[in-house]
Amino acid sequence: MDNDRLQELLASMTLKEKFGQLSQITGELYVGHVDDEMVETGPAYPRHILDEETLYTIGSVIGASSAKMTNRIQEEYLKRSRLKIPLLFMHDAIHGYKTIFPIPLGLSCSWDDRIAERVAEETASELRAAGIHVNFSPMTDLVRDARWGRVMESFGEDHYLSGNLGRAMIRGYQKIRDGQISPAGVAACLKHFAAYGAGIAGKDYNTVDMSMREFYEYYVKSYEIALQARPKFVMSSFNSFNGVPVTSSPEMLREILRRQYGFEDLVISDWGAVSELQRHRVARDGREAAELALGAGVDIEMVSTHYLEHYEAIIEKRPELLKDVDAAVLKVLRLKNELGLFENPFADEAAEDAVLLNSASLALAEEAGIRSCVLLKNENETLPLRPEHRNVVLVGPYARTLELLGNWACKGSFGDVVTLEEGLRQADGSMSVAAFDKLEDCPEDLLARCDYFVVTVGEHWGRSGEGHSSVKLELEEEQKRLIRAVKDTGRPYACVCFSGRPLALQDIIGDMPALLWCWYPGTMAGSAVAKLLTGQATPSGKLTMSFPRDSAQTPIYYNEFSTGRPANASSYSSRYQDCDIGPLFPFGHGLNYAGSTYSDFAVSSCLITENEDVKVTFRIHNPSRYDYSEIVILYIEDAVSRVVRPVREMKAYRVVPVPAKGSVNVEMSVSLEDLKYLDADLRRTVEPGEFRIYVNDLERPVFTIEH
Ligand code: IFM
Repeated sequence: MDNDRLQELLASMTLKEKFGQLSQITGELYVGHVDDEMVETGPAYPRHILDEETLYTIGSVIGASSAKMTNRIQEEYLKRSRLKIPLLFMHDAIHGYKTIFPIPLGLSCSWDDRIAERVAEETASELRAAGIHVNFSPMTDLVRDARWGRVMESFGEDHYLSGNLGRAMIRGYQKIRDGQISPAGVAACLKHFAAYGAGIAGKDYNTVDMSMREFYEYYVKSYEIALQARPKFVMSSFNSFNGVPVTSSPEMLREILRRQYGFEDLVISDWGAVSELQRHRVARDGREAAELALGAGVDIEMVSTHYLEHYEAIIEKRPELLKDVDAAVLKVLRLKNELGLFENPFADEAAEDAVLLNSASLALAEEAGIRSCVLLKNENETLPLRPEHRNVVLVGPYARTLELLGNWACKGSFGDVVTLEEGLRQADGSMSVAAFDKLEDCPEDLLARCDYFVVTVGEHWGRSGEGHSSVKLELEEEQKRLIRAVKDTGRPYACVCFSGRPLALQDIIGDMPALLWCWYPGTMAGSAVAKLLTGQATPSGKLTMSFPRDSAQTPIYYNEFSTGRPANASSYSSRYQDCDIGPLFPFGHGLNYAGSTYSDFAVSSCLITENEDVKVTFRIHNPSRYDYSEIVILYIEDAVSRVVRPVREMKAYRVVPVPAKGSVNVEMSVSLEDLKYLDADLRRTVEPGEFRIYVNDLERPVFTIEH
């Protein structure tokens, strides 16, 4: 349809039909509830306004899946709607649709834009085959507090890395070709704008209160970078920000998101968030809530229905909003047109099966799983297993389980998961593998023969994700007992941990000679982890979130501000009296089997200017048999500045493929832009002085440069 036709369509719509396009509901009202093909991701809201006529003005449906189900809803809808504008279907495929990839926090440990983009491409193909047009992903909320259950959906604590991965995923979902979403692409929804990850005390949905310097310098940056990929949607966040719920904040949505960051497409509320303005106690009733949200720039109301209930009163009171409503409806129509829905609103049911869980997606899921795991500890080369380890006993709650997908695994089925037990058997057919949930279940003779234990521990997938904040980040006592019981056998052993968040391991790490952190790897979990345990591949991931020693050490993050009394042995310093200083495992930590070395560090100049970047060069030598990707991280430290700055800030990173027995030269640069910061008046500034450059190691600078 050309633009004129779309304008004509808009002109032919009643005010109710326009507000219908700006309203999103769940799909069961059209076809009745069908378990498993419709998911609800929040509380129910009254639907009395959705009479027969109103129901057929709605613009989009959330949570319905499968080509058959979306087609049924679409068909029913189109039969009865006056204008026959097809529905958009939206869903949360946070780490895959049917093929499940590592949870985003895991994927971020690959630090690799390209793998993130490929994961998003595969997810988009599956979504589109299932009749879904919009994905509520990626989430680039900056996270610093592992108590928040949604850290699993994030890309960690650094804004630059988060933004880059978010941008890559948007590119992957939308697959823009010739300026249009391609037929196997979906519209991406960047969320949750803004600062949702900074809820006080790590509680979900909680208040956010922070300085604007902190906000602009860190929290908003990840969205700013991701916005460069032009997602079709941005979701406003549940939280209030400095006293104003984002859903009713013109400052956040109109001024910052639209005017300052140039976002021109659609803003959708979070689930029921328009209605929740009453709970925030900034709106007396649903009418006021709808007026506030619309006035703030929320184009589409998700699940609650106050827009449709009160549109007449709102437009009567604030006729100037009609311009925004028309603009938003036109964007919805354009998107439907861009997706080709006016020509063909249905998914191809016959083609769906061939797309879901196809061999290329599964291979990618395995690759992404391998790249996501982080080897946190490996005393005396406990890992990988060696040829003499023939009789392996896998033990613990994750030894045989299929539940390795992680939370928010969309349409992923446990039945499709490769367990660790299966993975190990497939990885090495000559190895004898026995698996038990408990050590007591292992028969004596087997125990006597066992020459290597793999102890599986972790936090159940259902304990992280939306609505799953926790005060305790320690492993369960029973799991610690298991580790100690295995230790008592005197056999070699390694620990493998599955979790949706960093855990606090101070009291048990001493009993773990080796620890492979697997997050939740997804459908191919067992194959990916087994390849790492058996040394068919080396771990290469590096942490994107610091690991606290103790739950009470959260929030904890690498780029904290300098203080007047930096932590040291003295009690008059910024530390806890009953906890060692710093994280147990810092941001950027991750071991491998390769034993690569860095050498030949050089810097192009010790002076950085407007016209000349400083180039840092070095060589990585890989003496091992592993082809792998080395993650190199460059930080700067501003020696002295007028305002307090972070102790270190990451300014560049590279994922460098290093061939087995080979060497590569690496060049990274620091520009004047990298030295700039927001001063107390929020002006971007750079001061003359000394800057120290660190590569990987946060303790020793490799160079000092000046500006
Ligand atoms: O997309 C999600 C959001 O991240 C949290 N609340 C529900 C939405 C829709 O499922």
